[in-house]
Amino acid sequence: MLNKLLVPLIVLFSRASSRTASEKRLDNGVGRTPALGWNSWNQGGCNAASATVVLNTAKAFVDLGLKDLGYTYVNIDDCWSAKQRNSTGHLVADTSKFPKGIDGLAREVHAMGLKLGLYGDAGTQTCALYPGSYGSEQKDADTLAAWGVDYWKFDNCLTEQVYTNKGIKSQQYYPIMRDALLKTGRPILFSICQWGRDEVWTWGGKVGNSWRMSEDIQNNWASVSSIAARAATMYQYAAPGGFNDLDMMELGNGVLTEAEERAHFGLWAIMKSPIIMGTDMTKLKASTLNIIKNKGILAIHQDPLGKAATTFTPKGQPAPVSGKLYRYYAGPLSDGVVVGLVAADGAETLTVNFSDVPGLGAGSFTWTELYSGRNGTGTSVSQRLATHDMAVFKVVTHV
Ligand code: GLA
Repeated sequence: MLNKLLVPLIVLFSRASSRTASEKRLDNGVGRTPALGWNSWNQGGCNAASATVVLNTAKAFVDLGLKDLGYTYVNIDDCWSAKQRNSTGHLVADTSKFPKGIDGLAREVHAMGLKLGLYGDAGTQTCALYPGSYGSEQKDADTLAAWGVDYWKFDNCLTEQVYTNKGIKSQQYYPIMRDALLKTGRPILFSICQWGRDEVWTWGGKVGNSWRMSEDIQNNWASVSSIAARAATMYQYAAPGGFNDLDMMELGNGVLTEAEERAHFGLWAIMKSPIIMGTDMTKLKASTLNIIKNKGILAIHQDPLGKAATTFTPKGQPAPVSGKLYRYYAGPLSDGVVVGLVAADGAETLTVNFSDVPGLGAGSFTWTELYSGRNGTGTSVSQRLATHDMAVFKVVTHV
C-alpha cells in the first residue's frame, strides 16, 4: 500500500526536479570563458568553407603563436555539406571541399592541438540552402559527436514554416538541439545564432554557451559600434558557461582603421563576447596581429570571473544614448577592474577619476594601459585617443 502511494510521488518529484534542472544555466563542461578562434564566413562566405582553408588557418594559429595564446576553435560555417542528406538521412560533407570528410579533418585539426567547429540550422535549410536539422536533431548531434566536432553554431534560417508561423518561439525549439548534444555525451560548445530574436539574452544561458544578440555584423565601423552599444545594455546576462555573442570579428578585412580594430577587439574582449576571427589568418598585417596577440587583453577576455563590462557615467558627463557607442566602460575582474575608454565621436583626450568607477572608489590605484603598456599609480588616468581608438586599463588596488 505504502509503495503504491510512494512510487507515483517519487515519479512526480523527480519530474519536477528534472524540470528545475533544465531551467538552470547550461553546464556542458565547455565554454566557461568566451570562445577564441576563427570562422570561415567573414573571410570568404561559402568559398572559405573548405579543408584547405581550415588547415591553413590551423597552421597559422600554430605558426603565429595564436594557439599558445588560447586561440582554439577553427570553425567551418555554411556550405560545408552536400546539398542532400544521404539515403539513411545523415548529413554528409561535400567531398570536393572536404576530401577526407569532416571526421578526417577533425583528426588533423586535433593533432595540431586545436578544436573543430561546424555549422547547422534549426530550420529545414541553412541560410545558404543546405540541409537544416529540423526533425533530425538527434541524428545530427550523434553525427557531430561521431565525427569529433567540438563546436556547433546553430543558425535560424527557414524556421518560419515549421516553427515561427505556428507561434513556436526560438526559446522552445533551440533546447531540442541542446538536449540532443547533451545526450551524445561529447562536450560540444553550443553557439546559438538567431540574431537576437525573442530577447535571447534573457534565456540563452539555459540553452547555449553563447547567443548572437544582433543581426549580422558588417565590415564597417557603423556596424561594429552599433552592436557594441547594444551589447553594453545586456552585460548582466554574461557568466561562466554562457555569453552574449557580438558576432564574428571584422579585423583584417581592409575597412576598419588600426584604431577601429583596437576598439573592435577591446570592446568584444571586455564585454566577454566570443572572439572569432573572420579573416585570412595567413595574410594578417603586423598591426592586426599585434592587436589580437595582446596578452593583457586576452587575459581579461579569458578571466574566470566571466563578467562583462558595461558603461558607467562619470560625474558631469551625459548619460549613454540608446544605440550610440558610449565613451566610458568598466567591469569586474577576478583580480581588479577593467576600464575602457573609447573615442566614439572623434579624437579627444578622455579622463577618468577612479572614484567614479564602479568597483573602485576613493584612493590611489595602480593601472596599466594594455595596448601601449603605459602604467602608473594615482586617483585618475587620462589618455589622448585618435578617432574611434580605445584604451583598455587594468586597474588594481595600490598596495
Ligand atoms: C546567417 C548567420 C551568419 C552566417 C550566415 C551563413 O546570416 O547569422 O553568421 O552563418 O547565415 O549563411
